Amino acid sequence: MRVAVTGGAGYIGSHTVVCLLEAGHEVLILDSFANAAPDVPDRIAGIAGQSAQVMRVDITDRPALTDALTGFRPEAVLHFAGLKAVGEAVEMPLEYYRVNVAGSLELMRAMEAAGCHRLVFSSSATVYGDPDVVPIPETHALRPTNPYGHSKRMVEQVIEDWGVANPAVAAVNLRYFNPVGAHGSAQIGEAPQGVPNNLMPYVAQVAVGERPHLSVFGDDYDTPDGTGVRDYIHVVDLAQAHLAALDLTGREGGVQAINVGTGRGYSVLEMVRAFETASGRPVPYEIIARRPGDIATSLADPSLSAARLGWKAERDLEAMCRDAWVWQSYLAGKNSG
Ligand code: UD1
Repeated sequence: MRVAVTGGAGYIGSHTVVCLLEAGHEVLILDSFANAAPDVPDRIAGIAGQSAQVMRVDITDRPALTDALTGFRPEAVLHFAGLKAVGEAVEMPLEYYRVNVAGSLELMRAMEAAGCHRLVFSSSATVYGDPDVVPIPETHALRPTNPYGHSKRMVEQVIEDWGVANPAVAAVNLRYFNPVGAHGSAQIGEAPQGVPNNLMPYVAQVAVGERPHLSVFGDDYDTPDGTGVRDYIHVVDLAQAHLAALDLTGREGGVQAINVGTGRGYSVLEMVRAFETASGRPVPYEIIARRPGDIATSLADPSLSAARLGWKAERDLEAMCRDAWVWQSYLAGKNSG
C-alpha cells in the first residue's frame, strides 16, 4: 500500500515508518522537522533496508499537503504530527489548537482533495481525564483536563463527524497510554529538547549522569506504594498497533476509538528499579509534591484492541528499559563526542 505518514520523523512516527517499510509498504513522510532531527529518514532507511519518500511540510499548510497527497495518491494516512507537551499547552492554548486541531482539519481536507479516506489518528488516553474506573474501557466518559487533551478529543470528534457525513471514511482513533523505549537498533528513539516532561526519558538521563536525581511527584496516591501507576507500552509494540489499525480501515468503514496499552501498570518506583537493573546504574530520587493535574492510576482495558485489531503488546518492562537505556547511552555518546 501507499501510506502517507504525518510526523513520520518523530518519536512514534519514525518507529511506525520502520514497521511499514519492513512490511513492504510504500511510505511518504510528511514532517516539518520542528521536533525531529534531519537525519531520521536516513536512520529509518538504515534499519529497514528501504527508504521512505520525504517532504518537509507543515501540518497547517493545506496547499502543500494537498500537493503532496494528490502527487503521492496514498491509500491511507497515519496522522502523528502535532504538539504534545501538557504544560506548554496550558501556556499556549491557541498554538495547540492551531497546530493540533486546525492542522488536522487541513489534513482531512487535503485527503478529501486526494480522494483518500482511510485515516489512523494518534489520540491519547488523556481524553479520559481522571478515570472513574481502571482499567479504562473505550466507552468511559471523555473529559480531558487541559488544552492538549481537549485538542486530541476535538480531532476525534471531527473525524467521527467526517465519518457520519462521508460513508467512504474508514478511520481509527488510537488512544495511546504511555509510550516508552526505543528501537532495538538504537538508531531512533525519543530525543526530548530541554528538560524531559515524561518519566522514562528523565530516568534515563539520571541513569546516564546528565541529571543528578529524579523528582518523584508524590508518594501519597492511593496506589500500592503511593506513587503514580501507568500503563507503559514499548514504542515498537505501539508502532505495530498502527499496522493492525491500518488493516482494520481496509476491512471496515466508519470511525472507531481503540485503546493501545498493555493493561498492566507499574508505579514510578517500580520503573526506577527496573531501569536500575537494565542499566546497571543507580537512579537516585527524591519525593516531592504532586504534579498538578496528575492522576493516581491510568490503565488500559486492552480487550477491544485484542478483538478489533488482533494485536497485543509483546515487549515487557525489561525490554522497554533496556532499549531506552541503549538509546540514551548512544545519545550521551553523540552529545559528548
Ligand atoms: C503525561 C501527560 C499526558 C500525556 C502523556 C504523554 C500530564 C499531567 N499528563 O502523562 O496528558 O498524554 O504525558 O506521554 O502531564 N513522574 C515523576 N517525575 C517526573 C516525571 C513523571 O514522578 O519527573 C511521574 C508522574 O507523576 C506519573 C508518572 O511518572 O505518575 C508518569 O508521568 P509521565 O511520563 O509524565 O506521563 P503521564 O503523567 O501519564
